[in-house]
Amino acid sequence: MKILTVVGARPQFVKAAPVSRALQTAGLDEFLVHTGQHYDANMSQIFFDELGIPRPDVNLGVGSGPHGRQTGEMLIRLEEVMMAEKPDTVLVYGDTNSTIAAALAAVKLHIPVAHVEAGLRAFNREMPEEHNRVLTDHCADLLFCPTQTAVDNLHKENITRGVFLTGDVMYDAALIFGQQARQRSDVLARLGLEAKSYLLATIHRPHNIDFPERLAGILDAFGLLDAPVILPIHPRTRKKIAELGLGLADLAARGVRIIDPVGYLDMLMLEQNARLILTDSGGIQKEAYFFQIPCITLRNDTEWWKTLDAGWNVLVGWDPEKILHAARTLAPSGPQPPLFGDGHAAEKIASILLGIGQPA
Ligand code: UD1
Ligand code: UDP
Repeated sequence: MKILTVVGARPQFVKAAPVSRALQTAGLDEFLVHTGQHYDANMSQIFFDELGIPRPDVNLGVGSGPHGRQTGEMLIRLEEVMMAEKPDTVLVYGDTNSTIAAALAAVKLHIPVAHVEAGLRAFNREMPEEHNRVLTDHCADLLFCPTQTAVDNLHKENITRGVFLTGDVMYDAALIFGQQARQRSDVLARLGLEAKSYLLATIHRPHNIDFPERLAGILDAFGLLDAPVILPIHPRTRKKIAELGLGLADLAARGVRIIDPVGYLDMLMLEQNARLILTDSGGIQKEAYFFQIPCITLRNDTEWWKTLDAGWNVLVGWDPEKILHAARTLAPSGPQPPLFGDGHAAEKIASILLGIGQPA
């Protein structure tokens, strides 16, 4: 059986790592296509090097651009690859433009689509990702849900066939690589950081960084927090900060330390040793939960609603006052309900692709 996997953006490399490994163990033949959506070495190559993901068989080199052009270029090139390779199934991850392009290319060629991280909904149609999720789920034949909430979301949209509750492959990845990070990453020494002496932040969502007053407000709030803020910066955010004329030295003087994006092992190490995480990332909210680090989410919605229930994650949007208030008051101590499976989601996905496995 031949699986054609499509990845393109940073979180997809993380998700693909445990799954590629499980496919190999199960004896499935994987043909890996990288769309080229992310291309800087520290947004792409480092993940392949560190996580043992097979080298892509093809890199389409699509790169950056407006949504229509980027997705359209991917669609054209993916169709060519799929026609040449004739896979039995196309495997897609998450909710990026690479995901929807691959799902669309496949269904038009009558190739079954398998979607990892199916069923997530932020219920915010302003997010490009929400359209990518909904449309991909409605194209998919096999839907691998990380949580029961995701299964329920699909049922509410009348998607009931091919739905499997597998657990979350990012939990698998965090378990495997979290341990490796503790052994191999020297990021704390490199940055001169003591465990629990700093806060970790990321921002890249258009609704935060495409509005100058919101971006400036968030960075201002970071500068008022009571510990240094380490901010591994997405290239898109770095460009916006430069456009706004906010000097990195000024920010550093206010305790906001902007660094280049880091590899996954360094990121997991930074997360595990942070006192608090502030982020608008989908994946990092979950990683905070896995490692029991309180998380302030710089959004008004999330795909991971259940992480809010036990008080380990809180939504504050981009309002500086709310960020500061949450940073002063968020102190979860209660137990965390296990939400993301047993750390073997990737093996379950491989078994289902082999034709073994019970639908939800
Ligand atoms: C994309 C996903 C988003 C995901 C994020 C993960 C879509 C619609 N968005 O957003 O869901 O959370 O990836 O990081 O698919 N850039 C570089 N170098 C790179 C990659 C990007 O400089 O290697 C810059 C370019 O200026 C580019 C901008 O970042 O225009 C945005 O990149 P793009 O992939 O379009 O969207 P992301 O914001 O990364
Ligand atoms: N990540 C990383 N280095 C960084 C920032 C993020 O390795 O400098 C990892 C992070 O640990 C998580 C994934 O990238 O596994 C999340 O990607 P991102 O926040 O870009 O996307 P999202 O999850 O919001 O789609």
